[in-house]
Amino acid sequence: MPVLGVVGVQWGDEGKGKIIDLLASGADYVVRFAGGNNAGHTVVSGTDRFVLHLVPSGALHERTMNVIGNGVVVDPEHLASEIQSLENRGVSIRKRLLVSARAHLIFPFHRELDAMAERWKGAGRLGTTGRGIGPTYSDKAARTGLRVGDLLDRDHLTSRLRAAITEKNAILEKVYGHRGVDAEAAIEAAWHAGQTLAPLVCDTGALLRKAASTGRTILLEGAQGAMLDLDHGTYPYVTSSSTCSGGFAPGTGLPPRALQRLIGVAKSYSSRVGEGPFLTEQINEIGELIRVRGREYGSTTGRPRRCGWFDAVSVRYACALSGVDEIFLTSLDVLGGFERVFVATAYEFYGRRLEEFPAHLPTLDGLKPIYEEFPGWPDVLRNCKTFGQFPEGARRYVERLEQAVGVPVTKISVGPERNEIVDRVRAGTQ
Ligand code: GDP
Ligand code: IMO
Ligand code: MG
Repeated sequence: MPVLGVVGVQWGDEGKGKIIDLLASGADYVVRFAGGNNAGHTVVSGTDRFVLHLVPSGALHERTMNVIGNGVVVDPEHLASEIQSLENRGVSIRKRLLVSARAHLIFPFHRELDAMAERWKGAGRLGTTGRGIGPTYSDKAARTGLRVGDLLDRDHLTSRLRAAITEKNAILEKVYGHRGVDAEAAIEAAWHAGQTLAPLVCDTGALLRKAASTGRTILLEGAQGAMLDLDHGTYPYVTSSSTCSGGFAPGTGLPPRALQRLIGVAKSYSSRVGEGPFLTEQINEIGELIRVRGREYGSTTGRPRRCGWFDAVSVRYACALSGVDEIFLTSLDVLGGFERVFVATAYEFYGRRLEEFPAHLPTLDGLKPIYEEFPGWPDVLRNCKTFGQFPEGARRYVERLEQAVGVPVTKISVGPERNEIVDRVRAGTQ
């Protein structure tokens, strides 16, 4: 299956890192196409646990080339240090990583602008990761951004970056009363990081088109999740990129028709970090129990994640948006031991039943989830090797989820480790 995509179909943190790592053993390339180091993708191998932010999740596979596509926003200082810390832990990533010359760069002033915009919004803040993602994508759209290729020539970098900092410092000082960033220090740091990255920089689009046309296996690694998509998510409480499958073509330089199979990763319940609508959120002991059992703390910021029941309305919408062929369902083990579990299969809006996710959500007033209730099951899933060994309650839950979402669940993850995964479709297990 030469070009295969993996996307999150909730609010991010569905377990994409684990799934990509699992599939990467058969991939020639693993390619990030959107987002930046707002992402935190966890990969567990034995006793080793890695949280990858910019480096793709094929990092642990010796024969896999990892590509940071042009749609990603790259903080060069962060990337240089992420590479170094992987090397320090014995992962020789430097010779298996490529970065698009077209990817846009995050600089310290983007991070400051991110923080200042959040402070300015006060109670209306988005709860961003503070990594400068929004301001960098804004500069890209405004055609004032710098790209990875701009790091390679010192004079060029100096004049472009100094001009950018002059403008941004004026905004920081005059609008936000911030002291601005030190231009010379920022230029020096960018040049230094750029020197580390220089050997990895190339035209990744040309490389990937050639790889696809010669039948090499390419795994497209989504970041964030559909409900954080700039167009289709819960705007304005979203990130600034296209997180659905459609983002891969502009974000890699591969043609849209290259995609042959798409996996949606869904967690067996819901979580969200940051602000914004979350209809099935449980602000009570249930939410707390899910958080504790699922270790739901942000991989990037360490913030406690908001937790709640599975929302089949939004996952159905997300799968339709991306064209998901099959779902890999993660963290089903976390729900083991609950007396009862719930799934939202529709919403109610002032007495009216809604089957579709609403296009505009200015407030949550009047919108309520309609739940179906399921008996729980004992906490034994981590010991199960087949779907047939699952307790009946867990099997019924999975069957109802796939029916409500309208997409088959083909694999079920029952723990953070690579081998903690069960095939749904195998003769004799259903
Ligand atoms: P990503 O951003 O989609 O890659 O997900 P994160 O890595 O941010 O968060 C997922 C968390 O769930 C990580 O801590 C994973 O190690 C963990 N995880 C993944 N799959 C499972 C699973 O099936 N069961 C449990 N208990 N944890 C899982
Ligand atoms: P992965 O790839 C979960 C959320 C932030 C915030 C909103 C905007 O690990 O699934 P941003 O910094 O992007 O401007 O923040 O998006 N967010 C994520 N939430 N997982 C992620 O990535 C996220 N990336 C951004 O918490 O609500
Ligand atoms: Mg994450």
